[in-house]
Amino acid sequence: MEYLELLGENNDTKVCTETNESHIYLRKIVAQYYESSFIRNFPISEFEQFMNNILSSYFSSEEYKLEILEGGTGTGILSIPTIQYILSRDRVSTFTGVDNSYPMLKILSEKEEFKRLNFKGRERISIGFGDLEEPLTFFSSSFNVILLGGVLHCLNKLDEFLWQVDKILKSEGYLFITFKSDESTKIQCGAEIKESENLDNKYTNFWQYYHRLRKDHRLPIESRCSLIYDVELVKGLIKNQLNNRYTFLKNDFIPWSAKTTFEQMIAAIEHGLTFVTGQGVSNNQRKYLSNKMNKWVKQNRLMQREVDIKNRVEVAVWKKTA
Ligand SMILES: C[S@@+](CC[C@H](N)C(=O)[O-])C[C@H]1O[C@@H](n2cnc3c(N)ncnc32)[C@H](O)[C@@H]1O
Repeated sequence: MEYLELLGENNDTKVCTETNESHIYLRKIVAQYYESSFIRNFPISEFEQFMNNILSSYFSSEEYKLEILEGGTGTGILSIPTIQYILSRDRVSTFTGVDNSYPMLKILSEKEEFKRLNFKGRERISIGFGDLEEPLTFFSSSFNVILLGGVLHCLNKLDEFLWQVDKILKSEGYLFITFKSDESTKIQCGAEIKESENLDNKYTNFWQYYHRLRKDHRLPIESRCSLIYDVELVKGLIKNQLNNRYTFLKNDFIPWSAKTTFEQMIAAIEHGLTFVTGQGVSNNQRKYLSNKMNKWVKQNRLMQREVDIKNRVEVAVWKKTA
C-alpha cells in the first residue's frame, strides 16, 4: 500500500475532533510548530535512541514478524524510530500509520530521513490519511503491535476506539501508549499542582491565571486533556473496559529540558498550538485570552524572562493476554 500521493491535499481547516462549533485547532499552524518552540523542543536523536532501546527490549527475537500500526503518526516522532527499528531488525516486519491531519502527514513525508526509510522499506511501510474515530478498515487481529502517541485525548469516543484497538490487535500483541507526563504539561492541562521546588513559580502562576480566565468565560478545559499525561487514568480505563485481558508491563520515560519564553507561551495561546490552548476556543476568544495573558506578563515584568521547562515523555506498555 502506498498512500503518500494523498498528501498533496491542502486541508488546513480540517478540525481534529470537536464537541461544539469551534475548531479545536488550525491544523496547518499546529503542524508547523509541532516539534519546535516550547511545545516540544524534542531532542530527536535521543528520542530515536530511546524508542529503539524500548522496542529492542520487547522484540529481540527476529523469529516473528512485527505488524505494527501507529494511530496518529503526526510528524513521525514515534514513526521514524519505529520504522528505523523494523528495517534494521528483519526483512519482513511492516509498519502502517494513519493520521487525520494532512499538514502533519505532509511534514512527515517531506523529512529526509522518512524519505530514505520509505524508499528502503517501500513494500513494508504504508502511511496515510485515516480517521481513528471512523470504523477502521483493518481485519480483526491484523496487528501484533499498536502504537498510540499522544492521541487519546484527541478522540471523542474513546471507548469505541478502544474496542476497535482490541479487535485489530492479535492476542499476545502489544499496546504502546505514550504520555507527556511532566509537571509543565500537567499545569497547562489545568491539573492542580502543588508548589514544588522544580516549578518556576511564575510560569505556574501564568497557567493558573489562564485557566481562571477560561473558567470565568465559561471555556473550561475538558477533562479529556488529562489523557495527555495521566498514565494511571488510562491504565484504569483499559483495565475496566477490556476486562483485565491486558496486562500492564512497564513504563519507561525520557526527560529533557528546554528553554522557552512567556512570549512563546502567549503565541501558543493566541494560535491554539497545543490541544489545551486550542481546544474549544474560537479565533476571537484565543486573541482575547492572549491579550489578557500579555497584560499579565507585562504587569509581572516577565517580558524578558526565560522559562526552563522540564519535559518528559513516558511510554507505557500493555500485553494482550487473551
Ligand atoms: C499530539 S499529536 C502526536 C503525534 C505523534 N504520535 C507524536 O507522538 O509526536 C496527535 C496526533 O493525532 C492526530 N489525530 C488526532 N485525532 C485523530 C483522529 N481522529 N484520527 C487520526 N489521527 C488523529 C493528530 O492529527 C496529531 O497528529
